[in-house]
Amino acid sequence: MRLETIAIHAGGRPDRAFGAISVPIYQTSTFAFEDVGKTRGYDYSRTANPTRKVLEDTIAQLEGGKAGFAFATGMAAEATIIHLLEAGDHVISGDDVYGGTYRLFRNVMRNFGLEFTFLRMDNRQTVEQAIRPNTRMLWLETPSNPLLNIVDIEMAVDIAKKHNLMTVMDNTFATPYFLRPIEYEVDLVVHSTTKYLNGHCDVVGGAVVTTSDELTERVQFLLNAMGTCASPFDCWLVLRGIETLPVRMKRHEENAIAVANYLKGHPVVKRVFYPGLASHPGHEIAKRQMRGFGGMVSFELKGGSEAVNGFLRRIKVFSLAESLGGVASLAEHPATMSHASMPKDYRERVGITEELIRLSVGLENIDDLIDDLHQALQPS
Ligand SMILES: Cc1ncc(COP(=O)(O)O)c(C=O)c1O
Repeated sequence: MRLETIAIHAGGRPDRAFGAISVPIYQTSTFAFEDVGKTRGYDYSRTANPTRKVLEDTIAQLEGGKAGFAFATGMAAEATIIHLLEAGDHVISGDDVYGGTYRLFRNVMRNFGLEFTFLRMDNRQTVEQAIRPNTRMLWLETPSNPLLNIVDIEMAVDIAKKHNLMTVMDNTFATPYFLRPIEYEVDLVVHSTTKYLNGHCDVVGGAVVTTSDELTERVQFLLNAMGTCASPFDCWLVLRGIETLPVRMKRHEENAIAVANYLKGHPVVKRVFYPGLASHPGHEIAKRQMRGFGGMVSFELKGGSEAVNGFLRRIKVFSLAESLGGVASLAEHPATMSHASMPKDYRERVGITEELIRLSVGLENIDDLIDDLHQALQPS
């Protein structure tokens, strides 16, 4: 099956009990045993739940992996798989990953004896030089949040294989519609399903896709042991969103390209970050490894905080809000919102400036989006 069909039919749909076309929400904590020691496949919803299973199988199939796991949030997914490691292990991560990922690693997991190096993964030498005898994992995010930097996945996986490292890819921004990291032999894919997979800003959720029986067993163990799973209703919302993922992503991208081109030519815009622009340093790699460039556009404004605050106060169709990937367009200020947990000097070093604005370009009519940006950039 192709992606558009998988999004609607994967996971054993229609439902086997009564043929329901919409996946039933098995809103139950526990399941009656058939006999002593004999279940009907499920015993307790933390361990597994039939609604969750449809979502897990769907995401696994979309990514081309072995098994999927659905979590309460993207951070729950990340927190769970970082526990595949042990105290004393070292992780190399991109330096402009999502602020919450950085916070989890630096402010939480470091206290449990994990070591982290954050760096720009734009060349082989930088990554190889950071490898230590205890390095176990490469954590990749491409396109990255919020700078839309591109990592060459082939290069990263090649380094990882040579040094026996596990590779994890946060595929939240690209989604399997534009990028399927497992085709490049990445070991684990992680998602905030809160974003494009759900697509309607009505749930928080996360997912992990594995590529081997061993990883499947270990992630299933951790999910159950840590209790980080998603609720049946939240799984249903993500499943409903995924059904339209392919049509949404296509339109997100069309609108994002138009927005990036509009911003690029605007006199008060200092810089535009969008991998679809030929001027983007990762454009050629993105073109090679992705089927499209996605719906996120970041840009820097001239005129400092005053200009940024003015723009964010004037937008009308775009809402000033955290998160991304929904049908409604959102704008946010990474330095004070999504990436506020990064220390200021670190943020500035990696290029997340006070002038940076991140747009999640939605599915509205593109003329209304451009008109909105136009009036917000040029107050009358
Ligand atoms: C790239 C990326 N990964 C992970 C997360 C965390 O996901 P959640 O907010 O669902 O916990 C986010 C949230 O913004 C994100 O943008």
